[in-house]
Amino acid sequence: MTAYEPVEIAAGAYQLRPWPVANADLDEVLADFCLDPTARAGIAAFQGPLEETVAALRVNRLTGWETGDYLGWGIREATTGRCVGEVTLIKPDLKNQVVMIGYATRSADRGRGVMSSAVPAACRWGFEGLGMYRISLGHMVGNTGSRRIAEKCGFTYEGTSRGDYLNNGEHQDTVWWSRLAID
Ligand SMILES: CC(C)(COP(=O)(O)OP(=O)(O)OC[C@H]1O[C@@H](n2cnc3c(N)ncnc32)[C@H](O)[C@@H]1OP(=O)(O)O)[C@@H](O)C(=O)NCCC(=O)NCCS
Repeated sequence: MTAYEPVEIAAGAYQLRPWPVANADLDEVLADFCLDPTARAGIAAFQGPLEETVAALRVNRLTGWETGDYLGWGIREATTGRCVGEVTLIKPDLKNQVVMIGYATRSADRGRGVMSSAVPAACRWGFEGLGMYRISLGHMVGNTGSRRIAEKCGFTYEGTSRGDYLNNGEHQDTVWWSRLAID
């Protein structure tokens, strides 16, 4: 287990603030994600009763920097501090220098450039601060928003892995992208 010191990152009009440092609105933000039809349909962890699901997701956000498994930020408007989404570097593997990125913008704040600002900033820290060589990004087939984020933020399409995720009794495919430190 490797503990990480939570780091704040500037991302243009937004500020990435690590969850353990600023979390008063965390439950509200998580509830918004859990009620999102795309996320709810595709992510098994989002499908339980709302309160239980939020409680389970909260744990990762609050302990992830300490356990080293889940380095997550609330994306906040720099001027108001309002949380408009989250971005996370998931399970950094220091031996192989690889990590996965995950993200969601609050439903009311989509289409305003939140994630196209936050993902490059989190990647920059992943490469230069955390010393990663590869950042991978996976999304459900048909998630056109996530696909556009991958393209726009400089990820290279790698392919679709078949049936690698069991969701609600169905084997689901995942579309994979990556960015390398040398790209
Ligand atoms: C996908 C998501 C993160 C995009 O966040 P966002 O903050 O709205 O993205 P931006 O405003 O930075 O938009 C970036 C680009 O994506 C495009 N885009 C955003 N949502 C889109 C959608 N649903 N379909 C098609 N394109 C979309 C925008 O038009 C923009 O493209 P452009 O620069 O060519 O005009 C957001 O819709 C979301 O949280 N979805 C639900 C959760 C999810 O799917 N998370 C990813 C799981 S892998």
